[in-house]
Amino acid sequence: MMYLSDNMRNAKKPGRRGFIGDLSKITLVGAVGSSLPVSQAVAQDAGPTEFKFRSAPYLQSLTEQAVNILFLTSQNAYSWVEYGEKQLNQKAVALADGFVQANNQLNSIQLKGLKPSTEYQYRVVSRQIVKFDPYDLQYGEEIASQVYRFKTRNPEASSVSCLILNDIHDRPHSFEQLLALNKEFPYEFVALNGDMFDYQTDEQQIIDHLLKPCTHIFASEIPFLMIRGNHETRGKFARDFKNYFTYEDNEYFFSFKQGPVHWIVIDTGEDKEDGHPEYSDIVDFDSFREKQAEWLEKELQKKTFKYYKYKVVLMHIPPFHAGEWHGTKHCRQLFHPLFEKHKIDMVISGHTHRYGVHPPDKDHSYPIIIGGGPKEGNRTLIQLQANRQHLKINMMKDSGETVGTYRI
Ligand SMILES: [Fe+2]
Repeated sequence: MMYLSDNMRNAKKPGRRGFIGDLSKITLVGAVGSSLPVSQAVAQDAGPTEFKFRSAPYLQSLTEQAVNILFLTSQNAYSWVEYGEKQLNQKAVALADGFVQANNQLNSIQLKGLKPSTEYQYRVVSRQIVKFDPYDLQYGEEIASQVYRFKTRNPEASSVSCLILNDIHDRPHSFEQLLALNKEFPYEFVALNGDMFDYQTDEQQIIDHLLKPCTHIFASEIPFLMIRGNHETRGKFARDFKNYFTYEDNEYFFSFKQGPVHWIVIDTGEDKEDGHPEYSDIVDFDSFREKQAEWLEKELQKKTFKYYKYKVVLMHIPPFHAGEWHGTKHCRQLFHPLFEKHKIDMVISGHTHRYGVHPPDKDHSYPIIIGGGPKEGNRTLIQLQANRQHLKINMMKDSGETVGTYRI
């Protein structure tokens, strides 16, 4: 059993970090039967061989009944999540092919069968595997994260709010500076709308430039959507990128309902022709976009989504106001007719690095909101709120000045 002081119980609200100092107050006994001593692995700057967490846990695919919790360790380990409403009295592991996932460093553990609209607490625990011989597996040190909280979605919610960032381009300090603009605006998720990176090099880049800044601010308690831009498709690690996030049906394009909004996420792919010399013959984004257009047509016809008040599209490359390169034109050709036919309410994009609110005009009957970036003075934070009365966005640039609003 694990006991939290009253201070701890009351200190954590979703979206607020920073009670590591309270860790010394926790009575540290394994919550689910383990009696091994547990050390708190909060030190991030220890030596290379020390067993520690390489990223704090981060939430993905949070729904009414489930959430995926991802985290990395520095050495191979057997890892699990301890969780519960009032105490950490349940344990989850990742299962596959009769195995409990083990002897790995990147963990993705799903908590299932949760109650809707309910607050849970959790921590992640890892036990190092120091020897893995046939018939002789030896464990080493056991480490545990601090306790975090999250709240499952409410299927009856009449409102939703979120934050949208785009085009950070390997500038991890931008997360803190832009999210600091948010002040007290509550948010249920953060949409990372593409080009968080310049190109994908390795795992350490994902940790240092995305996971560390995001978990430091919100991601251990509030989920984010990693929407791919045209730069996440580049570099030698681009084909490993998906392992660090979770997606419905394991596709970069998906849709979901939250509040009164049917959210649609499209992966707009590369910005130039597939045959462009920069891509060295190893991309085929034309067929990928075509596949998404077929999916989107079916998705927008589903009865389940017909009754939601708004349809909002998140896509990195906007179908207009982004020049006439191939990616933009192909998105326009494939997706724009569907947006018109199914009366999309708003498209939110990035890519151009020039922020702007583009109201309906002769070309498109829906507003297109484009966030800026990545240099100081051009970076933006978009706040979105939707309820039965309105759908509205507020776009601030990094000075804190509002540079665009739109209300439906
Ligand atoms: Fe960009």
